[in-house]
Amino acid sequence: MTATVTTDRLTVTTDRLTRVPGLLYGGDWNPEQWPEQVWAEDVKLMAEAGVNLVTVGVFSWARLQPDADSWDFGWLDRLLDLCHRHGVAVDLATATASPPAWLVRAHPDLLPVTADGVRLEFGSRQHYCPSSPAYREAAVRLTRALAERYRHHPALALWHIHNEYGDHVQECFCPASAVDFRRWLRERHGGIEELNRSWGTAFWSQRYTSFEQIEPPRTAPGPVNPTQLLDWRRFCSDALLALHRAEKAVLDEVSPGVPVTTNFMSMLKALDYWEWSRHEDLVSDDAYPDPADPRAHVNAAMNYDLMRSLKGGRPWLLMEQAPSAVSWRPVNVPKRPGLYRLWSLQALARGADGVLHFQWRASVAGAEKFHSAMLPHRGTAARGWQETVRFGAELRRLGEIAGSRLRGRAAVLLDWDSWWALELDDHPSARMRWPELLRPWYAALHERGVTVDFVPPTAGLDGYPLVLAPNLYLLDTATADRLTAYVRDGGRLVCGPFSGIADRHDHIHPGGHPGPLRELLGIVVDEHWPIPDGTTTAVRLDGAAPDSPRSDGTEPHAERWSEWIETEGAETLARYASGTLAGLPAVTRNRLGAGTAWYLSCHLGADTGRVLDLPLAEAGVGAELPDLPADVEVTRRHAADGRQYLFLLNHGGVERRVPLDTPGTDLLTGAATGDAVTLAPLGAAVLRLPAAEERP
Ligand code: GAL
Repeated sequence: MTATVTTDRLTVTTDRLTRVPGLLYGGDWNPEQWPEQVWAEDVKLMAEAGVNLVTVGVFSWARLQPDADSWDFGWLDRLLDLCHRHGVAVDLATATASPPAWLVRAHPDLLPVTADGVRLEFGSRQHYCPSSPAYREAAVRLTRALAERYRHHPALALWHIHNEYGDHVQECFCPASAVDFRRWLRERHGGIEELNRSWGTAFWSQRYTSFEQIEPPRTAPGPVNPTQLLDWRRFCSDALLALHRAEKAVLDEVSPGVPVTTNFMSMLKALDYWEWSRHEDLVSDDAYPDPADPRAHVNAAMNYDLMRSLKGGRPWLLMEQAPSAVSWRPVNVPKRPGLYRLWSLQALARGADGVLHFQWRASVAGAEKFHSAMLPHRGTAARGWQETVRFGAELRRLGEIAGSRLRGRAAVLLDWDSWWALELDDHPSARMRWPELLRPWYAALHERGVTVDFVPPTAGLDGYPLVLAPNLYLLDTATADRLTAYVRDGGRLVCGPFSGIADRHDHIHPGGHPGPLRELLGIVVDEHWPIPDGTTTAVRLDGAAPDSPRSDGTEPHAERWSEWIETEGAETLARYASGTLAGLPAVTRNRLGAGTAWYLSCHLGADTGRVLDLPLAEAGVGAELPDLPADVEVTRRHAADGRQYLFLLNHGGVERRVPLDTPGTDLLTGAATGDAVTLAPLGAAVLRLPAAEERP
């Protein structure tokens, strides 16, 4: 079945492919916090702002189901009817993120338990054990009741399962979780001897003789078995996913044809979003960059690239952002004038087909009463409301970009398994954290105007001239073989330090690091050489002679990490120039078949780009636009008809002139450009460029 919601402003046609003509604009609306008279004003103001999609019911469970055997749908019926009459489509939540008090008191063991054995109380939200049969049963029942009631409602455009899985509670250590963990372990390992081998239980007398002896990794006297912890991370992602899939199965059965999403939380360690996104019809994300952080937009860009990549480049939806300040940081700085617009455009620039917010109308009670909203406490006189209306109007001018896509010029490998294993305890350095290793690589690409896609380790890499792997601590031989084949066939791989270390059981690959990458990279690691906090090691880029390791202070500097490596066929492109490793190779390049594989044996922090420039140049991977001024972000969306949309975003505080290679039309102003565009501080342009064959 296909549901079509037609309003005077837009048609939302929902089918399994989630075709969404036009851009979506709106936010979480929590009408149960307000008397119904206020709703009438809400929909009137939504029309004024151009809101065409609202998320409803996210925290409505207690209102929808006052006790085990009664339901109260009347208010939601009236609300959805009202939305439909006013041309606002609904993203209807399954309301399962906050179980009501009556359910919790009837089943106290559905409350989650920490690793220290503390059972968390009712009184906040997300208070459930992912493996609790009582919670799951109640959640599925509610989902079915909602789906049966609203599946044909003409306002329904999208189902919104739960809310931010992994927010607040990512794991539970209660007895029900232990039972579920054991079931999961049996499925993964088969027999107890296989588990013993995988967990390396010969160490410290940890051998099990039955699955019943296994518990979740609760707080123990000393370091807990690392493979147990790794399996626990895998299990916790799967346990939440099982809940999500239970609700999804109900929606697919009862309400086929209506797309389903759950709001992701950007690059979140707890959930393997490659696996999760296979179960989404549409990827949606909640993003809260900090307005107090001048580099927040770089991190945001990275998260948006991931969201776009999760379903192979298909448009995604910014499900939540703050119109201005949030309420959950120690200091909640608002968005200065222009920042809200710029950051909203940034999501579109990176492939989103809509911008939604938390939330529509500011709450007057509860933990989020100081959180900004599209409609602030002050009402329509507020600065925030003026921005809401202005941006809604601008979004309508950008409608034609919906459905167009970005293509990454290079790929970045991201593997949750490896992330989890990398960050286990008792490693050579606790400073090797995936986000912190990745960020300088991404920042270097962002600064150079290079759009990247993220790819899972199982991805085909053929279309990419360059693949970057900032870290692959955990690497199975199948992935190593795929990377080797990619390079042999002419690809270029850049691999970061502390890679190729462990197999999928977190056992060290024998025979010297980087294990299955040794031949591909043409090096061997003799010893890891972490750099103490507060110190750095100079790296000489020119491959200077080993006996002239003096540093003159202008070289890139490694921090956190370095390695004593020896080449086995690779050439040395940079050497350590200070410290114990002075004179030894730091950056290498190995030619294999028709391609090359680079190895960075150290973490170069802010200097990473100075090394990445070499493989970027060799691979011919450059900016979306040459001569890009500082602070200007550029991306290009491609429409099916060959048109392109060039986004130019000035994140800096000074005016910038951006030279263009093709003149276009700025969709925001309607003006034709010449050979350059001038961007005010925090200014932006979205240029429609004609298809190649239409260009003069
Ligand atoms: C999100 C959450 C919303 C709201 C928002 C506040 O994480 O999904 O319900 O709490 O944060 O910033």
